Amino acid sequence: MENTNRHYFFLDEDYKYTDQKTGLLRNLRNITNAVDLVFFEHSKSSAQIEMLEKNPISVANHKDILTTHYAIFKDVYPFAGQPREVIIQKQGTPFAKPEEFEDRFKLIDKLISEYKKISLTQPELKIKLAISEKLAEIINAINWTHCFREGNGRTQRTVATSLAFEYGYELQINVDKDTSTYQRYFAGTAEKDNDILASVIYDSLTFHPSLRKTIPENPIQKYFKLLNPKKLMLILKGKFFISKNSSITNSK
Ligand SMILES: Nc1ncnc2c1ncn2[C@@H]1O[C@H](COP(=O)(O)OP(=O)(O)O)[C@@H](O)[C@H]1O
Ligand SMILES: [Mg+2]
Repeated sequence: MENTNRHYFFLDEDYKYTDQKTGLLRNLRNITNAVDLVFFEHSKSSAQIEMLEKNPISVANHKDILTTHYAIFKDVYPFAGQPREVIIQKQGTPFAKPEEFEDRFKLIDKLISEYKKISLTQPELKIKLAISEKLAEIINAINWTHCFREGNGRTQRTVATSLAFEYGYELQINVDKDTSTYQRYFAGTAEKDNDILASVIYDSLTFHPSLRKTIPENPIQKYFKLLNPKKLMLILKGKFFISKNSSITNSK
């Protein structure tokens, strides 16, 4: 089906994601009313984003972008954590095609590893500048991959928030419409302008020296790792079971 949602264009001939009758995204509550779905999706995702701000997912590479999407949308969409299988364009600009994801993920991994190498032996303002510049590149690389059918904006900002946390920074990008931050954020992503985006990020960062320490693993991250097909097979074969606190235990 061809669905033009404002300036968005989705190609989903097999109704993989949308319900043929309502045109709405299939969801885990079987909601068929657009207003109800917006409300449900917004309340669930906001609660999860808030939880992730307190207990971030540690981002080592692109797989943790999938984990972050899973954590935000696990109670809303069946495709939480899964790269999309359909084509999306916005205002005529094509995002990556699914077959291009592998290469895009390699680029994202390279940017994340560069981010991890930011020197902490320079003045704090230089550290903050380096963090802002690299996060702008990372957000734009994730945005132009747009690897999810829905929720790319929230996921890319949550990933950036988790990465900022690693260096002891709180990142709060205010994307309420009509704010100048939103307009600059939008210009930075839609026009792929890393300088504008870096300045928005710089203004949205607050340093908390006591946060500059190792982050404990988020329990959802542990669980999502379990969902990888090999481990899932072992669980199905009864070789492992998941205990109440989500740790894997050998059943023998
Ligand atoms: N014309 C555009 N070109 C490039 N990126 C865009 C454009 N319009 C919006 N975006 C980006 O896409 C994000 C929204 O993607 P979407 O998948 O709907 O995520 P969410 O539902 O979390 O907002 C925005 O936050 C913005 O960064
Ligand atoms: Mg959206």
